[in-house]
Amino acid sequence: MKVSYHGHSVVKIEANGKTILMDPFINGNGLTDLKVEDVKPDVILVTHGHGDHLGDTIELAKKNNSLVIANFELATYLEWQGVNTHGMSIGGAYEFDFGKVKLTPAFHGTGLETENNEIIYLGMPAGILLTIEGKTIYHAGDTGLFSDMKLIGDRHPIDLAFLPIGDNFTMGPEDAAYAAKILGAKKVVPIHFNTFPPIKQDPHLFVQMLDEGIGQVLEVGEAIEL
Ligand code: NI
Ligand code: MN
Repeated sequence: MKVSYHGHSVVKIEANGKTILMDPFINGNGLTDLKVEDVKPDVILVTHGHGDHLGDTIELAKKNNSLVIANFELATYLEWQGVNTHGMSIGGAYEFDFGKVKLTPAFHGTGLETENNEIIYLGMPAGILLTIEGKTIYHAGDTGLFSDMKLIGDRHPIDLAFLPIGDNFTMGPEDAAYAAKILGAKKVVPIHFNTFPPIKQDPHLFVQMLDEGIGQVLEVGEAIEL
């Protein structure tokens, strides 16, 4: 399968004849190489309701008749916007036709800001475990470090982990390096950095903190074969 990184927390997976997009923040994402008109996701996985993760989900899903998978409250909100959804909750897994999805904890917020200066709370933010073509990919979403990452890694051997390193809103590089260790991930790719001034980081310094051969910085648009 082909797994590519598209700036901020956007990850695209092409496997089992499907295109799966995670946290499709395209408009307003100064780092991404994607265009809403060009991406045709069959499935969209959303970690939480913040604008830099929910992104262009509604437009993409309506245009492409994509299935959107998210926590139950966020899925319900999206369903009300006319999107085809599948709601889940943390700790639950479901076998879809393209692969298996399980939501994991993430310590973060999930408020969506409206034009009327209101915040709509959209359930528990999550991480995502996607098992597809026999490999398990972990997208941590936005989260601080927590010790149950060890439990996640013990229960689900992780082939590839996408971990936020931006600091301020999520783990910084040191905590993310510790997370990589307790997750026991075979390969780790940093995400959620350099999009905005408060999350400026050098991803190469992060990779140097990891055990030899584990970390890989993916340039925007770069793909790896898994
Ligand atoms: Ni967030
Ligand atoms: Mn974020």
